Amino acid sequence: ADDGYRLWLKYDLITDVAQRNAYRQAAQYIVAEGNSAVLKTAAAELQRGLQGLLGQPVPLVTKGESNSTKRGILLLISPTANVPGTAQTQDGYRILTQGRNLVVTGRSGAGVLYGVYALLRQLQTQQPVANLATASSPRIQYRLLNHWDNPNGTVERGYAGSSIWKWYELPERLDPRYTDYARANASIGINGVAINNVNASARYLTPEYLQKVKALAGVFRPYGIRVYLSVFWAAPKVIGGLKTSDPLDPQVKQWWAARTAEIYKTIPDFGGFLVKANSEGEPGPQDYGRNHADGANMLAEALGQHDGIVMWRAFVYKANSKGDRFKEAYEEFKPLDGKFSPKVLVQVKNGPIDFQSREPFHPLFGAMPKTPLVLEVQLTQEYLGFATHLVYLAPLFKECLDFDTQTKGPGSTVAKVVDGSLDQHLLSGIAGVANIGSDRNWTGHPMGQANWYAFGRLAWDHSLTAAAIATEWTKMTLTREPKAVATIVDLMGQSRDIYVRYTTPLGLHHIMGQNIHYGPEPWLAEAGRPDWTAVYYHKADSMGLGFNRTATGSNALALYSPGVQKQWGDPKTCPPNYLLWFHHVGWKQPLPTGRTLWNELVTRYYTGADSVTWMQQRWASVKPAVDPALHTDVTARLQIQRQEALWWRDACVLYFQTYSKQPIPAPFAPPT
Ligand code: GCU
Repeated sequence: ADDGYRLWLKYDLITDVAQRNAYRQAAQYIVAEGNSAVLKTAAAELQRGLQGLLGQPVPLVTKGESNSTKRGILLLISPTANVPGTAQTQDGYRILTQGRNLVVTGRSGAGVLYGVYALLRQLQTQQPVANLATASSPRIQYRLLNHWDNPNGTVERGYAGSSIWKWYELPERLDPRYTDYARANASIGINGVAINNVNASARYLTPEYLQKVKALAGVFRPYGIRVYLSVFWAAPKVIGGLKTSDPLDPQVKQWWAARTAEIYKTIPDFGGFLVKANSEGEPGPQDYGRNHADGANMLAEALGQHDGIVMWRAFVYKANSKGDRFKEAYEEFKPLDGKFSPKVLVQVKNGPIDFQSREPFHPLFGAMPKTPLVLEVQLTQEYLGFATHLVYLAPLFKECLDFDTQTKGPGSTVAKVVDGSLDQHLLSGIAGVANIGSDRNWTGHPMGQANWYAFGRLAWDHSLTAAAIATEWTKMTLTREPKAVATIVDLMGQSRDIYVRYTTPLGLHHIMGQNIHYGPEPWLAEAGRPDWTAVYYHKADSMGLGFNRTATGSNALALYSPGVQKQWGDPKTCPPNYLLWFHHVGWKQPLPTGRTLWNELVTRYYTGADSVTWMQQRWASVKPAVDPALHTDVTARLQIQRQEALWWRDACVLYFQTYSKQPIPAPFAPPT
């Protein structure tokens, strides 16, 4: 049975004999000359993949040995390789047919490695390789996973077991899983990992832990992956024995410079720092009357001439009963645009609140043209049903990337802000909060693997469609039977919308269970601070529902460009999916769908929950085409999902009904 461990890198024998023979003809040997460790990885991976897919070993030979009548695959690093992009582009590849051979070329070992995975993908999805000619370069330079993993082995918001990092065994023992993890990441173009929680322990900066981090970096290096650390702002005090962590204090600066020098001595290709500061109780430069730029620039200075960056997170908000949390990151960061050093990128979550199932794009996108912004998305399903609900996230990521900020006229999409093309930034980055844990299948929910996969593919090329990525992933991971592929891709494609409908339709947000962030709790009114309650966000009353963020309310809408304001500011033109993000709408107000708000709300909760039954039926229909153990696993999780969809539906409808005082409309009304 398939236990999910091999992810999308299955390399199972191709059963179509004609197809297999065609591939066998094209791949009779591999030549990979050069000393690059990453090139060696590429050759080894190609051998491994071909051996599995073709069912026969493919020898690695020298150029001289390559027989003039056989056809083979040449892996070639060439500084002048013709890859898309600029002269700086290092990770791109080109695959071409040269005489009887296929050539995979790139300007770096990583480029060739990515080309090899692209070639293997062709085979895994059974595309022709005769006369293959294709080239690709990543649109975004820093493509990172962020692990929210703690030294004690727990994972913040992790639902797939404990951390895969075994700190107590490192650096001596290297779990083979670290290599498998690196392979999976490299295969989708991920080139960096921040290995520890943004709510960081200072411990990672100690000599003891640096040795452990070094050991991991050594495993990742041959896969073109660099290691980054989340840092605890008060480390100079906690482990450095200083009295302050003020970024402008000379001793503090010196401490960070010395720590950084030590890191680079230990890990010469260290990637840099990820920082959560002055957010949710974490210390930061504001503790000393300094701002985020003061803090970030001090760390950038500590990096000195080393090839490292600082990713400074904009996820900040204070306990404040008067304000609107929606606006806080913007208000703190927008004035700092232009004040960050060139090595600093500001990391912004896709939406203004916190990884809700649907959010408008974060107003900082487009608002800080002088600062490269990293887009942070969440793969772990903190607000999207943990590892029990089947939710394919590529549509959510795409929705954010495709939003038009209109800050430089039409076409100023979030994608163009993030890839640096809108404002001509040299640095660009994207980060996915990992959904990976120690579960045998990595992600808990077997279908959660698709979210890891989709993140990598979109980080590489945000113009890919969610459906194209789902199709690739399904063929490589679950089945190549065409009807089953189509069914699964359709199911995946609708899953996120379905989840939104039975949990937070029409722009509702943050009404989930407090603390654990699971299940409904719209009635939550007390939580220590107002912006951790649910009533703060939905504002249900006898008149209606929703958060007025227009000029007569919090005016958060004013943070967007005029074109966006215009569309979202008028409840008649605001798309229903975002309506309650921006408007307090009367219960009896008719919506463009022809129903009143109340009836539309109920309709979405009911049809959303019913769609889970549809998902169950669709999934049942593919049973003959997928691995039985995996099928059983997903079937069981869908059962839970169905029960919990009903829980969400009933809890929310009945709670909001205490305000609307409206009957549940036909055909949903319970029989009397
Ligand atoms: C969410 C999450 C926290 C996390 C925070 C962050 O609020 O619930 O656990 O630390 O995001 O992104 O920093």
